[in-house]
Amino acid sequence: MSTVLIANPKGGSGKTTLATNLAGYFATRGRHVVLSDMDRQRSALQWLERRPYKLPLIHGLDGRGDHTGSLSADWNIVDSPAGLRGDKLSTAVKHADWVIVPMQPSAFDMGATRDFLQVLREEKSIRKGHTFVAMIGMRVDSRTRAASALQDFLAESGFPVLGNLRNAQVYALAAEQGASLFDVRPSQVSRDLQQWSPLLHWLVNASKRAAKQGGSHAK
Ligand SMILES: Nc1ncnc2c1ncn2[C@@H]1O[C@H](COP(=O)(O)OP(=O)(O)O)[C@@H](O)[C@H]1O
Ligand SMILES: [Mg+2]
Repeated sequence: MSTVLIANPKGGSGKTTLATNLAGYFATRGRHVVLSDMDRQRSALQWLERRPYKLPLIHGLDGRGDHTGSLSADWNIVDSPAGLRGDKLSTAVKHADWVIVPMQPSAFDMGATRDFLQVLREEKSIRKGHTFVAMIGMRVDSRTRAASALQDFLAESGFPVLGNLRNAQVYALAAEQGASLFDVRPSQVSRDLQQWSPLLHWLVNASKRAAKQGGSHAK
């Protein structure tokens, strides 16, 4: 099982959007996916409740307890709440193979994320190379000054940058319907799908490498 924690203590940075779409992607690939929701607002689980039966199955889990031992999924996608820190953050990071940090191009987001990245760098399982961190820009309009400030910030972070997702209405529309971008007719979202490919390649290749090196990421 590969566990992907989506985290950024800043509310509205795009965690649930990233988590639900990632879960949707692996489900369309026929993988057994668990979407764990650590947020007591339950946005990811509510998305699942809206999900039509005809779409590829995703299992929901209240991720506030520690259920990781009992999971038998191919992919465990963990959505986390705003303000995640301290022991809860350390435990979630320890159980994750990857932490993906979504962030929006604003000074407020950069300030909050800078501090968070420093906390992540000090986490034991990240220092020891058991958990990997990567970044992704959310709602990025490439023509703006804010977007170029974000690119500088991401480049200086020292973590891999898995591209940017543009600001597109389809994310909100799909979310309303319990769908992901990968459940929409591809011709309607071709530009957005392209933007997902660095992230998806990175995850899939890393998970294949880990499997070759002797199975999943026992911690
Ligand atoms: N790439 C995007 N394009 C348009 N809207 C987006 C995009 N990413 C996120 N959003 C919107 O931004 C808002 C906050 O995103 P959300 O995923 O709920 O953040 P978080 O879970 O970090 O609080 C939501 O309304 C969501 O639909
Ligand atoms: Mg959320």
